[in-house]
Amino acid sequence: MIVANLIAKKRDGHAMTEPEIQFLIAGYCQGTVADYQMSAFAMAVCLRGMNDQECAWLTRSMFESGQQLSRTVSDEMPRVDKHSSGGLGDKVSLILAPWLACCGVHVPMISGRGLGLTGGTLDKLESIPGFQVDLNDAQSDQVLTIAGATIIAANETVAPADRRLYALRDVTATVESIGLITASILSKKLAANLDALVMDVKYGDAAFMKTFQDARELASRLCSVGAAAGLPTKAVLSDMNQPLGQAVGNAIEVNESAQLMRGEGFHGSGFNAPALDRLYRLTRYLAATSLLQVGVETNRSQAEARLDAHLASGEVMERFCMMVDAQGGQAKFPLSVAPALTLTAKQHGSVQSINCAAIGQAIIGLGGGRRQVGDAIDHSVGITMHVGIGDQVHPGDPTLTLHAPVALHSEYASQLQQAVRLCDQPIETPPLFQDLES
Ligand code: URA
Repeated sequence: MIVANLIAKKRDGHAMTEPEIQFLIAGYCQGTVADYQMSAFAMAVCLRGMNDQECAWLTRSMFESGQQLSRTVSDEMPRVDKHSSGGLGDKVSLILAPWLACCGVHVPMISGRGLGLTGGTLDKLESIPGFQVDLNDAQSDQVLTIAGATIIAANETVAPADRRLYALRDVTATVESIGLITASILSKKLAANLDALVMDVKYGDAAFMKTFQDARELASRLCSVGAAAGLPTKAVLSDMNQPLGQAVGNAIEVNESAQLMRGEGFHGSGFNAPALDRLYRLTRYLAATSLLQVGVETNRSQAEARLDAHLASGEVMERFCMMVDAQGGQAKFPLSVAPALTLTAKQHGSVQSINCAAIGQAIIGLGGGRRQVGDAIDHSVGITMHVGIGDQVHPGDPTLTLHAPVALHSEYASQLQQAVRLCDQPIETPPLFQDLES
């Protein structure tokens, strides 16, 4: 087969066959399909799409580019995971993995790095000095035995095709494709040898799927391709028209996660701080869904009560520290962040919208994300949001805090000053999430 002909086939809107997809993915992993050819193919898929069948073949080829994590004899626990389609400030995985581990399930999570404007779980974890994400099968199994949860990168044996393609898509504007996102996520999840997967599919300005409709299509695709591949998959659709939680960045998101996991300000069924409460409610819903999927709990309110009890007792943070320690990290929080500059509102009003693209681009511009494959990350930069959609603000109220080297403060302050848009009428807070079925 000739690679350029296969790219042309997809460019012209034709469906690929299974051998053609296998040929491209195997060739890409072996080095006979070049990065520039794979970028062109990814762009053709973004523009022309893939049908269900092509998507299932792509998922399988990417999964089969590597091996499946083994399940040791001692691992009789149900193995569950959640994965997000990506969003700004999405730190759910950091909290959910140890939280579920407290409930007697194992969470072997194969995560990604920053993609497009959204941050990546692995980059966030690497803000912790010493934390290793590149573990082999035996090492990740050991962490799982110690902590009940491990968060690792795809590697040369586990989903290697996704490891390469993911990095390429990040810098070639080829992220926003239902087919590519589905195959990327499910190839990693099949490699993790799970009993059940819950998908957090995000929609809105700060997500890859801008509309609820597109997110629903992605969610159905993930559930159908997952089920056909033998992985029971449920999907929750969640709002991403504003960052999740207050913190956007790397170290700063780990700090916010630690605050939640320590249960600081937890009053038994929620947090008073609205942004933290949204993060808590979504994470708990996703975690409860996992427990229901594998029958560890049979009713949602019991599952949520069990999760709340672990949060209140401080066990979630203890688990997280066990995982960090077992992966070579120094479990000392909070992590240090770059110097702060707080911006304030100039007028009265309700927060109508938040310019998530401006926030994501500022983080990348400051070095908190990548422009090119292999760029180093400055983990200390970030943005703390002090307001959310629907909040009332008055002149002088803090809107956001920029954490960046002082020399860059004024340049980024002027870029970000308009990121919070106000209007005169009251604005309703958007619903946080709903099940795909509802
Ligand atoms: N998360 C992934 O793992 N892959 C994507 O393509 C998008 C989000």
